[in-house]
Amino acid sequence: PPENPPPAQNDTSAKLVDDADHPWQAPGPDDMRGPCPGLNTLASHGYLPRNGIATPAQIINATMFGFNMDEGTAKFVTYAAFLVDGNPITNLMSIGGKSSLTGEDPPEPAIIGGLNTHAVFEGDASMTRADDFFGDNHSFNQTLWDQFVDFSNRFGAGKYNYTVAAELRFQRIQESIATNPEFSFVSPRYFTAYAESTFPVNFFVDGRQTDGQLDLDNALSFFRDMRYPSGFFRAPKPMGADGLDQIAAAHPVAPGANNGTINSYTLDPTSADFSTFCLLYVNFVNQTVKGLYPNPTGVLREALERNLGFFHDFLGDPDCPQVFPWGQI
Ligand code: HEM
Ligand code: MG
Repeated sequence: PPENPPPAQNDTSAKLVDDADHPWQAPGPDDMRGPCPGLNTLASHGYLPRNGIATPAQIINATMFGFNMDEGTAKFVTYAAFLVDGNPITNLMSIGGKSSLTGEDPPEPAIIGGLNTHAVFEGDASMTRADDFFGDNHSFNQTLWDQFVDFSNRFGAGKYNYTVAAELRFQRIQESIATNPEFSFVSPRYFTAYAESTFPVNFFVDGRQTDGQLDLDNALSFFRDMRYPSGFFRAPKPMGADGLDQIAAAHPVAPGANNGTINSYTLDPTSADFSTFCLLYVNFVNQTVKGLYPNPTGVLREALERNLGFFHDFLGDPDCPQVFPWGQI
């Protein structure tokens, strides 16, 4: 059953996280890794179980401790992902593909597919991973990495920063519009795409450095090798999606999707956008989660209700009341 979310950290200073207690080890053949370079790195250093199967509390603690992710962001993102990709009964989630180690699945249409599952949390126009339409939405993609480098050279004098992030975010959207007939860019992916563009600046820059300029060797260490650069210090203060506004404002794009052919991007007014953050929450619960669990009963329903409660707790918007997809008990 779901455990309570862990407390925030007392010490939020920069500190050595590539330490002797957390040596990097390459993942073994059965160890799960997926689309998130942050969680992959935490697993390969043992801040998460090295097999890539973790509870929400383990993920929250690891992201807070290992990267100084702020409590609200860590908990909101973790419960969002867990509700759609994790097993509510066993309280386990794969940070990569589907795994028998998360236990017996609840009934379909629940997927319990881990973070690789397309369209419930993972989505299109990622920076270093291809769109699901092209066959692999989770592995490091060398061609996309080459573009990351090219953009960092052109717009960041050889570093990745918020300016580069804004240009690369827009480029990836344009590429998907032009090449992926199934391109989808609606909530929640709409939000996570912009948030994740900030993360390399906020979390992959060494915490002894305050200029927001990410060295590309260090970036590659995270994105490809799932490894802290040697002697890495985490961020000097708790961080979330700082910089998101700047990136989104540089090239505004409204939520939408291609309609089955390339170059057919059509706006979707039912999707949440930056002016309707509460709708992100409401649609996620009433459509995405309820779609996977149309009529849960017993311990399954209790576990889902608790996790939905945690998810709402960390939304951080007092004007956004909790919704109850199966009615209030
Ligand atoms: C991408 C999950 C925390 C960095 C992703 C994706 C998922 C995910 C599912 C794939 C989305 C996509 O690109 O389609 C999570 C969860 C977290 C978490 C559940 C729990 C708090 C972090 C942290 C960092 C991070 C702490 C940085 C230290 C990134 C980056 C990407 C990403 C940079 C984009 C990869 C790319 O576009 O190539 N994350 N993540 N994440 N995550 Fe995480
Ligand atoms: Mg993706």
